[in-house]
Amino acid sequence: MSFPPSFLEEIRSRLSLSEVIGQRIKLTRAGREFKGCCPFHNEKTASFTVNETKGFFHCFGCGAHGDVISFVMQNDRLSFHETIEILANKAGLDVPQFSPQEVAKAQQQKTLHQICETAAQWFEQQLHSTAGRAALAYAQSRGLKENDLHRFRLGYAPLDGQALIQHLKGLGFETALMIEAGIARQRESDGQTYAFFRDRLMFPVADRRGRVVAFGGRLISGDGPKYINSPDHPLFHKGKLLYNLSRAREAAPRGAPVIVVEGYMDVIALVKNGFEAAVAPLGTALTEEQMEELWRLGASEGDPILCFDGDSAGQRAAERALLRALPLLSAGKTFRFAFLPHGQDPDDLLKSAGIAGMNEALKTAIPLVDMLWRLESGRRPLNTPEAQAGLKKALEDQIKLMADATVQKFYRAAFGRRLDEQFQKPAQAYKNTNYNNKLSKFNRAIPPSPPPPLPHPQIIWQRQCLLALLRYPQLFDEVGVQLVTLELKGPLDKLWQAVVTNIENQPSLDSSGLRERLRDLGWDDPLKSILAQGVEARAWLKEGETIDDVRAGLQDIIALHHRHATQATFRQMAQQYEQQTDDEMRRRISAMRQELNHDHDER
Ligand code: UTP
Ligand code: MN
Repeated sequence: MSFPPSFLEEIRSRLSLSEVIGQRIKLTRAGREFKGCCPFHNEKTASFTVNETKGFFHCFGCGAHGDVISFVMQNDRLSFHETIEILANKAGLDVPQFSPQEVAKAQQQKTLHQICETAAQWFEQQLHSTAGRAALAYAQSRGLKENDLHRFRLGYAPLDGQALIQHLKGLGFETALMIEAGIARQRESDGQTYAFFRDRLMFPVADRRGRVVAFGGRLISGDGPKYINSPDHPLFHKGKLLYNLSRAREAAPRGAPVIVVEGYMDVIALVKNGFEAAVAPLGTALTEEQMEELWRLGASEGDPILCFDGDSAGQRAAERALLRALPLLSAGKTFRFAFLPHGQDPDDLLKSAGIAGMNEALKTAIPLVDMLWRLESGRRPLNTPEAQAGLKKALEDQIKLMADATVQKFYRAAFGRRLDEQFQKPAQAYKNTNYNNKLSKFNRAIPPSPPPPLPHPQIIWQRQCLLALLRYPQLFDEVGVQLVTLELKGPLDKLWQAVVTNIENQPSLDSSGLRERLRDLGWDDPLKSILAQGVEARAWLKEGETIDDVRAGLQDIIALHHRHATQATFRQMAQQYEQQTDDEMRRRISAMRQELNHDHDER
């Protein structure tokens, strides 16, 4: 009795190879792989390796090689069928019982792969034929070069609805199989078979192992939906697969950030620019199964980033993704959220602002916990205890949607701390939002109403000054006095003090010397975390910026701080003299107001 390949594939994809093997022999991590002593021959030194990403094990000693199924079969000395029962059970799948028809169907699936591959090749040829001239010109107008077309296997489905069908027939493919694969349809009125994609630029969609299983077709001219996608079939489930998944599976463990965007063109633009682990859902919102797939990619560079447009539609899409993710959160399984400048998708952004612009946008990505906080706290003003109680309840309702008790516990703790902070200075948090909008790109990108409170600027400044001095301690000599008089306050007070004191005591320390010294003093963890966190998209704080840029950035902060202080004084003064009719005082206030506005415009 045979199982359909898709069922076996499902087992392989749901199970972690290293986990299954690790339950049977002792494995230790070695770089991107795992190592252990081979269970299939007698050895003392480990020459048995497990590659999670590729889904196979290999023994350099005896040459044993295989996947999760063959490992368990050989190691546990089971029949194929017994192995499948055990593994399917572990993967939470029911073992299907097959009728002869189903067995035949399973055999047919080999040819489903073949027909998709054959169609993909034919579309590619068409793009470079006379019929594909306009499509090729369109692809070129979108900035795609010959090697891009080749890499993503772009093609063209001609207007002639019979051409592909004739071609496939000539190669011995049955019409029924074309229909099953979703590349042909049967007209109800006369039973005629015609091609599903006509006059469209074709984007082949590959499964997790890189085999073409479906297509997206983009309109080039005329009316109709901008994109149409292959219907589901036994090898293709829209809600499970992601565009560019197979490449992402290679790139993510090598350090490429996992970036989820909306469109095929966005993925292509990102990959072209070196973001090789960019993926997109296939014309639907991100599903739970796709989320699980993203976590299985084994990204070594942080949690997957979900990218959204900075407009209100993007904000709503982000909310939906967030709510869908809540029940799935568990140890190490979460997302970050990034918002792109208004009205630009990654393809646009890369064209207008390059890799730097994209990186800048990715840097503003916020963790899911912050996204949830912003979402709930942004819905209501927080200046009364009742409003805060309301927020607490709303947050608790969301926490209840999380299935993992440990995650719930930590979310409660995180929100508890924030609620306490909020309660201490509710009015303040509100007053400053306008000002903060100017500081933060992120906030400019999404306009929730009312805008969620951001950290007080002082907290941001403290982090920025800290990062700047860690990079160029010698700047303390020039701007140190001014920085210290700012009396920055924030959660990093102690670290800030330690940095200042150490530079003062030993002005000759360079960046690595300073960090070393701080590590010796026990600041290792906070240092790591602040360096890893980065800053709210300040270009001058990027790795590799010159000392001049960083100096200018610090001077900016000093100037901003003074303006902030002046504004506070001004508000006080204005309040104090509001009732007075003193003309001279009115004139002075008005002059000061003008000066402040002027300053603001300049920024
Ligand atoms: P967009 O409309 O954002 O298009 O759809 P895009 O990807 O930026 O495409 P270009 O740049 O105009 O060529 C995003 C994704 O939504 C799906 C497709 O997967 C598309 O890539 N979509 C869009 C559809 O499935 N059908 C549609 O009619 C439109
Ligand atoms: Mn686009």
